[in-house]
Amino acid sequence: MNEGSARSIPSNPLREGIVTRSAPDPCTVVIFGATGDLTHRKLIPALYNIAADGELPPQVAVVGTARREKTDEGFRTELGEAVRKFSRQTVRDDLWDGFAQSLYYQTTDFGDPEGFQRLRTRLEEIDQERGTGGNRLFYLAVAPSQFEPILKNLKAAGLHKPPEGAWARVIVEKPFGTDLASARHLNEMVSAAFPEKDTYRIDHFLGKETAQNILVLRFANAIFEPLWNTRYIDHVQITAAETLGVEGRAGYYEGAGALRDMVQNHLLQLLCLVAMEPPTDLSADSVRDEKVRVVRSLRHYSGEAVAANVVRGQYAAGAIAGKQVPAYRAEANVNPESTTETFVALRLLIDNWRWADVPIYMRVGKRLPKSGTEISVHFKKAPSVLFNKESQALDQNVLVIRIQPDEGISLRMQAKMPGTSLRIEPVKMDFHYGTSFGKASPEAYERLLLDAMSGDATLFARRDEVEQAWAFIDAIEDAWSAAESAPPLCQHPAGSWGPDEADALLARDGRTWRRL
Ligand code: BG6
Repeated sequence: MNEGSARSIPSNPLREGIVTRSAPDPCTVVIFGATGDLTHRKLIPALYNIAADGELPPQVAVVGTARREKTDEGFRTELGEAVRKFSRQTVRDDLWDGFAQSLYYQTTDFGDPEGFQRLRTRLEEIDQERGTGGNRLFYLAVAPSQFEPILKNLKAAGLHKPPEGAWARVIVEKPFGTDLASARHLNEMVSAAFPEKDTYRIDHFLGKETAQNILVLRFANAIFEPLWNTRYIDHVQITAAETLGVEGRAGYYEGAGALRDMVQNHLLQLLCLVAMEPPTDLSADSVRDEKVRVVRSLRHYSGEAVAANVVRGQYAAGAIAGKQVPAYRAEANVNPESTTETFVALRLLIDNWRWADVPIYMRVGKRLPKSGTEISVHFKKAPSVLFNKESQALDQNVLVIRIQPDEGISLRMQAKMPGTSLRIEPVKMDFHYGTSFGKASPEAYERLLLDAMSGDATLFARRDEVEQAWAFIDAIEDAWSAAESAPPLCQHPAGSWGPDEADALLARDGRTWRRL
């Protein structure tokens, strides 16, 4: 099926609500990096869960490929253990046994063109055996240094060209480059083998249930959109906090830091969903056209403006939930003098009519006191007449979108406390996914894999989005590395909400961070 086209599905009276997803096509999912962490922790558990939910057609095969020698049986046993450890649902032996029969392993050295010829032969055999129809989804779950040889060899083996009537798509994992120049280079490499419509750049935040719900909240309800602008919104906060530290990923993280690791992709994607204009329809390109306009409208900072609007921090030793944790610089494989930021706070402005003069505050960090990602929209105060004539202390209305955990939405408003006198207190209207729908949300990778199999790229980043985001980030990185304008790297104890400078960033505007 072509990107963006909405295939109508037969209506099912047992299904409630509006359903707009198309069924995934039969296909072979070819995972490069089959022995890696991502495959074990996320990809195979996701595929098992969608199979267990009955959403995967029986004609889907998964071929894992990596350099290590392994048999199909060995691969299946190893993945069985991983799925039992990482699956969202308890694994049922009968279901797993059936699913495991669709798993295959093919040893391939990514730099060896002949290995790709053998892969091609194997895929053709699997097409015959399982009726996968020649459709192929290549998943690059490898370090970026491996992208080039894989893409070149896929092309040399003719695997990028699908057989007549079938499709070939590629999913590229993050990090998608480390700056604009490297992202462009990577985009060139990918586009030399696959057209943009068949390129799926993963940002797993877009697959989170609550991230998808942002557009539903905004555009399936009539009451928010008229208020969603500079006239009624005072400011927006986006927080992505983790209690975890760098967790053995120092090799990657040292060269990335929080700005590249989280802001360039996940946080800017969330911002786009909050700030975009309504798209003309729900096709992948209409949605992404609107998202990219938000990134293009971001005010770029350079030099002094970076120091004034962006705070970078790094965790020192401290305690989280009563447990002592080491400083970032004392973590394994981290340079003891590292200047990599593990915390960033930003004050952003979107220069368009809807958002003129509405600051967007973002903060992200590791080893913070609590894990949680949320977006809060703070509305302007009611006019200073009537109830808040004398008392200026009346709170703002705040709409909170909890991305994770405890997914849901709450709205804070003012109410009169019961009693004979007039006392006004803030109260909360709260919606929790868990209690309202009574079932767990699927993992982000489940949704994204299904979408890629059905040809829907809406929740994947387009080339221009990624490049625009890097242009914004590069200006900040440049200022950080320029000796004359580099703002300080502010240390904060692990288990605190970042350095004092992050609080000062809001205090300057007369605001404070929302407590999670
Ligand atoms: C990844 C980052 O993309 O997202 C990690 O590389 C981060 O550093 C992770 O921990 C957070 O994702 P989630 O889904 O656990 O919130």
